[in-house]
Amino acid sequence: MTTKGLWTDGRLRYGGDWNPEQWPQAVWREDVALMRAAGVDLVTVGVFAWSRLEPAPGRYSLDWLDRVLDLLHDAGIRAALATPTASPPPWFSLAHPDALPVTADGVRLHHGSRDTYCAAAPAYRTAARSIAEVLAARYAHHPALALWHVHNEYGTTCHCAHVETAFRRWLTDRYGDLDALNDAWVTSFWGQHYTDWAQVAPPRATQYLGNPGQLLDFRRFWSDTLLSAYTAQRDLLRAANPAVPVTTNYALGDWVPVDHARWAREVDLVAVDHYPSRTDRGAEEQTALTADLARGWARHGAGRPVPWLLMESAPNQIHAGGRMHTKEPGRMIRHSLAHVARGSGGVLFFQWRAPAGGAERFHSAVVSHAGADTRVFREATRLGAMLGRLAGTACGAVQAGVAIAHDAASGWALRHPGMPRDGLDHPGEVAAAHRALWHAGITADLVTPGDPLDGHRLLLLPALYLASDATVDWVRRHVHAGGHLLVTWLSGVADEHARVRPGGYPGAYRDLLGVRVEEFHPLADDERVPLTSGGIGRIWSETVHLTGAEPVTAYIGGVLDGRPAVTRHRVGDAHTWYVSTRPDDDTYRRLLTDVAHRAGVGPTCPEAPPGVEAVRRRAGDHTRLYLFNHTDRPQRVPADGHELLTDEPVAEVLTLAPGGVAVLRERVPPQGVATAARERSAAMRTASPASTVPIT
Ligand code: GAL
Repeated sequence: MTTKGLWTDGRLRYGGDWNPEQWPQAVWREDVALMRAAGVDLVTVGVFAWSRLEPAPGRYSLDWLDRVLDLLHDAGIRAALATPTASPPPWFSLAHPDALPVTADGVRLHHGSRDTYCAAAPAYRTAARSIAEVLAARYAHHPALALWHVHNEYGTTCHCAHVETAFRRWLTDRYGDLDALNDAWVTSFWGQHYTDWAQVAPPRATQYLGNPGQLLDFRRFWSDTLLSAYTAQRDLLRAANPAVPVTTNYALGDWVPVDHARWAREVDLVAVDHYPSRTDRGAEEQTALTADLARGWARHGAGRPVPWLLMESAPNQIHAGGRMHTKEPGRMIRHSLAHVARGSGGVLFFQWRAPAGGAERFHSAVVSHAGADTRVFREATRLGAMLGRLAGTACGAVQAGVAIAHDAASGWALRHPGMPRDGLDHPGEVAAAHRALWHAGITADLVTPGDPLDGHRLLLLPALYLASDATVDWVRRHVHAGGHLLVTWLSGVADEHARVRPGGYPGAYRDLLGVRVEEFHPLADDERVPLTSGGIGRIWSETVHLTGAEPVTAYIGGVLDGRPAVTRHRVGDAHTWYVSTRPDDDTYRRLLTDVAHRAGVGPTCPEAPPGVEAVRRRAGDHTRLYLFNHTDRPQRVPADGHELLTDEPVAEVLTLAPGGVAVLRERVPPQGVATAARERSAAMRTASPASTVPIT
């Protein structure tokens, strides 16, 4: 499957969700004129339009969608046409109450919102297939069609009788027999031994703590079930016209029961929705992290790289802390281009026009309730022009010498009850490591265990709790090939069934790290443990014994006084580091800067002042340096080349306006980030070992 159709002209796509079904036709024409003025060329249509497309079972009303697609086509705008299966019509729910979702404590939900269906219910699957088939038959060759957008943010969970049957089937396929399941779930504990498949059920509300193996498998099963709901639609859409790419947009967040890395193999492009939850600099950190995650998923989608696209983002607001915060002028552009810098094939918003009513009537929109004579519309128009100027240039691989491992199942398993501490958070630890590197100016790739690690001099495992034998082997191969490794607390403690690996923590990596952890000392939320590096540790601490490693930083005070907090071990040409607590942000930044430096990886733009983010893309001998000024002052960056947004030459210094962005075609492409840093660090080591950053 090719996604070339979306990018054959070398342009970045621009647009958002458009819901013409909410408006009279006069507004459609106004919208399309405004889209053209803003430079929009791709809109998502029909996402929640099922009740308008099929007002009664088997009775279709498609004329309005014909007119919408024709109107778009006449205006030179293409459509990401959605299948509307995230919001079944009320008639469907009333006719098929067994297809309504049931919570873990047995409550059956009712229609009146969206996403109220059970993806394992046969009636839902049949109805979803039927409406997708009708759309495929009618529009698969419509000239406006650029992309199929299946469903919206798969995520609804269910525990009903259909799910029970499907779960047993999935478990039978996975384990073959009950002995293997009993073994994987350690059902010898609390007398949970199963003697008949009919006894096995989804993890419903129960008296006390549930079984970790069962909880974990249920999450995996549900991700696979939702995926099969997607692939059922994808296959019939593809069959109708193999030239049109198919995708579904990823929701991100703890609640999403989807293994995005696994799903990436089934989409023609990875589409992510991103809404920062922080209003301070955290919004920029989250933007960079999400884009790097999406790029990581896309890199190995379908066994080969697929493109990725920012499918939804909010034009002018961040919703956080129970209220909306207006994005400061320029911030939306920085967020949008930060996604582009890190590989997105364009920028799409949710939503084009603010609705007059409905649950999201006050959600951010390009055309707000105030109309188009607004700051947000003018800024969106500016962004459209900028994306136009970047046509043909946003190519090339993002340069990153560090890889951070990320694994959905580890995140799910750390959330289980009965862990040594509440609030354990693998994605949060991934974010902390990424944030530390981001503040150090070092670009990272996010990888899933098993992904190729070519060119990554340093691999980080942040609280990567689960380690299958294959994962352990992957890590080992990296180190034995001379790659450096940094492992943080709780990584490799359990196998893929969440069974603890015995012999001392971290069972999977003890020998690679030269440490053995005897005892955990989780910290209270407000507890801090001082470190000899001058910083503090939070959340977690441990009794670490050295079995080959050397201490780098020690704990001060308490039961761990003088014991190692951070260690370093030499394995062949590589160093392996163990971090047994969560250092405060500044200490973590200094530590990772030093570890990366010793691995031969430095900042993307060492001369960039604090608050300026730099990302470099490289294609052959051509490089583009994206610079983002996240401060409210002008910033100067040494640079030479041609600035593409202003179309101005740059000699020696580029001055970024407060909150501004620049995209530089560099005159003399620097060496690869990792290579340059590696050579620099080798030179420094030869000149003076003391010139390296001191160990924190
Ligand atoms: C997305 C969703 C949209 C809209 C948006 C609001 O997750 O796909 O339909 O609800 O959130 O931020």
